[in-house]
Amino acid sequence: MKKSKFALASVLVLLLSTSIFASSDDDGDDKDYRDGKTVFKEVCVYCHTNKNIPNVLLVGNKQHWSGLIEEGQQFPTAHGWVGTRMMPRHGGEAKMTLPEFINAVAFMANESGADWNEYEDLDPKMYQEILKEIQIRYDRNELYDKIGKKY
Ligand code: HEC
Repeated sequence: MKKSKFALASVLVLLLSTSIFASSDDDGDDKDYRDGKTVFKEVCVYCHTNKNIPNVLLVGNKQHWSGLIEEGQQFPTAHGWVGTRMMPRHGGEAKMTLPEFINAVAFMANESGADWNEYEDLDPKMYQEILKEIQIRYDRNELYDKIGKKY
């Protein structure tokens, strides 16, 4: 009798501890992506603070950003993710994820007059808009490749 009670108790402890571990994984505290400031400092800073790069949008320069901010978050985010002219896709970093890129764009835009949310607080509708615009860009680029038009 004593033995089986002990066994039951250990099973309960086991269950409890595994469920604690499981919940600590999905409660959102352990983000597996970098925030905007971190990505900016690690990847984007080289170009987006460099006055010698033609057409680059300097962080903190409201004039450079005002047009893009007016367009809305989905457009510069999607176009930068796919890459446009001298802007390398994903900021040139192979391991970049879309949430991280969204964060970096939001961080840079917010330093330059916008009020955009990073991925964690992003309206799901805006996330859908970003995905939609990325697809539109890929389709456009595919077409341009076919007809030999530059983009
Ligand atoms: C190698 C230099 C370089 C790096 C690194 C870089 N950018 Fe850029 N980015 C540019 C240039 C140049 C432009 C302007 C492109 C143009 O309009 O000709 C640009 C444009 C953009 C735009 C505007 C896109 C649009 O709609 O016109 C966004 C947004 C952007 N970058 C985000 C980022 C983010 C976020 C990172 C870091 C993850 C990053 N960039 C890293 C050079 C860079």
